[in-house]
Amino acid sequence: MRAVVVSEPGGPEVLQLVDRDPHTPGPGEVVVDVAAAGVNFMDIYSREGRPPYGRDTPFVLGSEGAGTVSAVGGEVSEIRVGDVVAWTGVPGSYAEQAVVPADRAVPVPSGIEAPTAAAVMLQGCTAQYLASSTWPVSEGDVAVVHAAAGGVGLLLTQIVRLRGGVVVATTSGGEKADLARDAGAGHVAGYDDFLQVVRAVTDGAGAHVVYDGVGKATFDDGLAALRRRGLMVLYGAASGPVPPVDLLRLMTGGSLYVTRPTLGDHIVSRAELVARTDELFGWILDGTLTVRVGGTYPLADAAAAHQDLAGRRTTGKLLLTP
Ligand SMILES: NC(=O)c1ccc[n+]([C@@H]2O[C@H](COP(=O)([O-])OP(=O)(O)OC[C@H]3O[C@@H](n4cnc5c(N)ncnc54)[C@H](OP(=O)(O)O)[C@@H]3O)[C@@H](O)[C@H]2O)c1
Repeated sequence: MRAVVVSEPGGPEVLQLVDRDPHTPGPGEVVVDVAAAGVNFMDIYSREGRPPYGRDTPFVLGSEGAGTVSAVGGEVSEIRVGDVVAWTGVPGSYAEQAVVPADRAVPVPSGIEAPTAAAVMLQGCTAQYLASSTWPVSEGDVAVVHAAAGGVGLLLTQIVRLRGGVVVATTSGGEKADLARDAGAGHVAGYDDFLQVVRAVTDGAGAHVVYDGVGKATFDDGLAALRRRGLMVLYGAASGPVPPVDLLRLMTGGSLYVTRPTLGDHIVSRAELVARTDELFGWILDGTLTVRVGGTYPLADAAAAHQDLAGRRTTGKLLLTP
C-alpha cells in the first residue's frame, strides 16, 4: 500500500510517496481503505517539525480521513468489515490504508459520502466546538471570523449564523469575499479594515467574540475589536505565531478574555467526539451545513496541496484521494 512519508523535517519536497506493507489490525483497532484523507494546516507544521507538531522521521503524515473498514482486530464489537467510518486525530492518514483505534472511528451515516465526512472531521469539529463550547454563540452576538473562506472559516461562519450570530468575516478579497458572504457573513472586510467595520456595525461597542486562526497579522486589531468582557479565541497562526502579550492590555481593553483552544481538548472522550460529529452530520443531512471541497489531489500530489494551502490559493477543504 502507498503512503506519503515525511522523510525528514522540511519543505514540501520532503514528502515522498512510498510503498509500505499492508496493515494488520491489533486489538481494539480497525484497518480502513482510505477514500479520502484531509489536508490541514497542522500537517504543514508536522512536516516542518515545528513543536509541538513534529515527530521522529520517517512517518506517514495526516491525521484525518474516511473510508471503508477492511479488517477488524480483536476486542472490537461495534464495527464490522464494510462499514464506512471517519476519524480525526489518528496519525498516518495520507495513505491507501490507515489503522484507526475503534474508539476513534465514527460511523458515517448513509446519505453522506466518505469524502464529505473526511472533510468535516477536523475543521468541522473545530468550527463546532468554537461556536458551541468556547464561546457558545447566542442570538445577536457579533463574531469576527478571520480567513472566513478557508476550511474552518466557511464552516464556522455557517455555524455562527445558524446559532443566530452576526458574522464580520475577513478574507483577502475577490472570490473569497463572495464565498464568505454566501456562507452567511453579514459583513466582509479585509485584514486591514475589519476593526473599523466591527466598530461601525456595533455602534462602537465591539464584537462579542473574535475567532482568530490567522494569528500574528490579526491579533492586535482583534483585541481592539472586542467589546467589554469580550473573548479573543486564538485557535491558529496561519500568518505566524503571536508574540508575547502584556496582560495589562486585557484590563485596558475592557476586562477581556483570551483563550488558545485545541481540538484534542474538545474530543476527549468517544461520547464527546460522537456528539460533535452527530451534530455536524445532522446539519449536512438536513441541508443546514454546506461542505465545500475546494481541491482534491492524488496522494502523489500532497506537496502541491501543501504549497497551495500555505500560499493562500485555496478555499474550503483540501482532500487527498489514494
Ligand atoms: N486550534 C484548533 O483546534 C484548530 C483546528 C483546526 C485548524 N486550526 C488552525 O486554523 C487555521 C485555519 O486552518 P485551515 O486548515 O482551515 O486553513 P485555511 O483557513 O483553509 O487556510 C488558511 C487561510 O488563512 C488565511 N491567511 C491569512 N494570512 C495568511 C498567511 N500569511 N499565510 C497563509 N494563510 C493566511 C488565508 O485566507 P485569505 O487568503 O482569505 O487571507 C488562507 O487561505 C490554521 O491556523 C490552523 O492551524 C486550529
